[in-house]
Amino acid sequence: MEFSRDQFLEEGYVILRQVIPPQELDGLRRAYERLVERQRVIWARERGPDDPPGGAWETNAQPRLNLGLLAGQIDAQTVDAVEIWLHENTQGVSSRLLGVDDAAVTEMMLMCNPVRDHETGGHRGWHRDFYPPHTAPLQGYADDIIENGPRYVQWNLPLYDDDVLWVVPGSHARLNTAEENAAMNDDARTPVPGAVQTHLAAGDGVAYILPLLHWGSRYNAKMRRTIHGGFSEYTTHKDLPYLEHLSPASQESFHRWNGRSRQKFEQTEAALRAAIDGNGTAFKAALGRLHPGRGEKGGLLSTIFLSKSAKRIHHLKSPEFDSLPEQERLWAESIHPMTLQWGRPLADRFSRQEAGALWARFKFVDDLLQADEDQWTPGFQGEETRYYFDRIPADLSVEAFLATL
Ligand SMILES: [Fe+2]
Repeated sequence: MEFSRDQFLEEGYVILRQVIPPQELDGLRRAYERLVERQRVIWARERGPDDPPGGAWETNAQPRLNLGLLAGQIDAQTVDAVEIWLHENTQGVSSRLLGVDDAAVTEMMLMCNPVRDHETGGHRGWHRDFYPPHTAPLQGYADDIIENGPRYVQWNLPLYDDDVLWVVPGSHARLNTAEENAAMNDDARTPVPGAVQTHLAAGDGVAYILPLLHWGSRYNAKMRRTIHGGFSEYTTHKDLPYLEHLSPASQESFHRWNGRSRQKFEQTEAALRAAIDGNGTAFKAALGRLHPGRGEKGGLLSTIFLSKSAKRIHHLKSPEFDSLPEQERLWAESIHPMTLQWGRPLADRFSRQEAGALWARFKFVDDLLQADEDQWTPGFQGEETRYYFDRIPADLSVEAFLATL
């Protein structure tokens, strides 16, 4: 596969032709269609009392399969749906795009068309795929990408021609422009200035860097089966009941990725413990092991992620956890390795007292990331909060954090 990594880093996305080898396309379509049929049976069975007979298949603007949740349905007939994620054209190319030896697949999904057109409602406008209050301000991502390259690459890989996705080239490494904000505030469901529509033939792929500003344009009833997911340096796959159906090399890959994720889990704990102990040297060493070779901006982004980790552990260990708002509880329990969020298994490594000490250390970071008034920038997931969406305050740095330990 020929491509320019420099161009990918500059524009934040790259379109690749015939990622799915043409002779494999029909077989892959059949494998995914079987999964769709099986999922539709489940959706019909699980429909609510007011839902149409097909349940979510009929009501969703974008019915979506998550292969991680469908693990039991991966068998000899459908295993190609997983194997395509281990192909040289996806996994190999992702490693090259990320600049790592062995990229790990993080999520494996399929996006489908709705049964009827969703012209105005039902689909989202322009957005970046994250919510800064839960991870970090956009500047944290942009600075890290410019300094060290991306930590994550996302893919759309259509099984049928697909021109739904629009992108703003270069937007992954900068804040929104005033023009973009004005356009999104006016109507987030029309092309913003400088936007580009992707035109993918069946089997082509687009790979893009996470904070890229993008838009799923119209979700209409035209046949859409687009493989969607991503790669990072590590990830975690909870159970792997389908492994026996994969090739020996693919099985090995999943084991290797899980092993690396376990290591990152341990290293995350080590960084948090170094902070509890007030040991700046150990904290810096732990940051270096978590993300080897990443510079100062990378260290700052990881420190912000760790502050979120500390906040979640503090929540999870709190006697008042059950009375927290549902959204907060779900966030605290969710697992997102790329941003060092390991949910309850990590919280369980700490006593209630340690969780309190941990939060006392990271509150310095958390306080600096908040304003006195609600913040809002268009083009993100989630609602307004006091956390900054865009900028990291100038007085927040790894050194400033270490000075408080
Ligand atoms: Fe998105």
